[in-house]
Amino acid sequence: MSPFLLTRTLPEDATGAALRGDVLHGLTRTPKSLPPKWFYDARGSELFEEITRLPEYYPTRAEREILADRAPEIAAATGAKTLVELGSGSSEKTRYLLDSLPDLQSYVPVDVSESALTGAAEALLAERPSLNVHALIADFTRGLALPGTPGPRLVAFLGGTIGNLLPGEREVFLRSVRTLLDPGDFLLLGTDLVKDEAVLVRAYDDAAGVTAEFNKNVLAVVARELGADVDPGDFDHVALWDRDNEWIEMRLRARSALTVKIPELNLVVPFEAGEELRTEVSAKFRQDGVRTELVAAGMELTHWWTDKEGRFALSLATAS
Ligand code: SAH
Ligand code: AVI
Repeated sequence: MSPFLLTRTLPEDATGAALRGDVLHGLTRTPKSLPPKWFYDARGSELFEEITRLPEYYPTRAEREILADRAPEIAAATGAKTLVELGSGSSEKTRYLLDSLPDLQSYVPVDVSESALTGAAEALLAERPSLNVHALIADFTRGLALPGTPGPRLVAFLGGTIGNLLPGEREVFLRSVRTLLDPGDFLLLGTDLVKDEAVLVRAYDDAAGVTAEFNKNVLAVVARELGADVDPGDFDHVALWDRDNEWIEMRLRARSALTVKIPELNLVVPFEAGEELRTEVSAKFRQDGVRTELVAAGMELTHWWTDKEGRFALSLATAS
């Protein structure tokens, strides 16, 4: 028996149905695209953890530095009794918050990756047996029903994962987060910041090829879940900086003309040689943009902290 509560907020088949819908929609349009949430099966979650340790991938270290320095201030400002974390992954950096919140009673990690959630909850409980952990397998873009844990609540969304949503999706998402906040509750939001293009591109195209493997893992997911005859080796990893949108874009480029058969969808997808499939955007932010997006969603920025090099920011916000 698990020493923590694990709740699946979607029916068992909802994930499969959502994947089929996203693949059908994304691979039958031009240009082709897939949403980044499909990277994170057990292998994809492991690869992401490997990315966080790469010398080129600075966001995790920069955010950890802010949390290590500011967790006591965050605790004093929020007085949280419940910590909700969206896209919690390994919950590794979350320990700074868990250790600094003196009145904390419940931790509610929310993730689409069941393996990441159970791994994180087991590791946390081994260290903190009295913590009440209520893990939710859920898609945070589809509206969230949170368990009735005590307030005030701190809703954390770390890692810069908000940058993986497109602008329209971010707007809808931030409004839905706003509905979770009662008076006295807070949102803690991690955002990677605009910086030198070369630094950004290196972070998404590392020398060891781990990000390339992470990117191609989405094809392995489609092959396993939908029976697609796709070979990840037929595609090259691409990471580029889109100056106008201020985001990094990851793509998979077909090395030659090929077709992918997806029997579960009765679909044959042709790729021209060199054709690219967009697998992720990773938007980079500026303080004014973050403030404006929060205000548009009915929230107010109360604190803004960066690491010493100014690479990454943590924002604290309340409902306005
Ligand atoms: N917060 C962690 C992990 C970031 S990786 C950190 O800062 O290191 C992004 C995490 O978000 C992954 O664990 C992934 O499974 C999860 N995720 C991505 N899209 C999601 C969605 N739509 N709903 C819920 N979780 C999602
Ligand atoms: C989870 N997310 C914030 C990561 C990012 O940097 O956009 C995912 C990632 N993609 C490639 N490397 C890491």
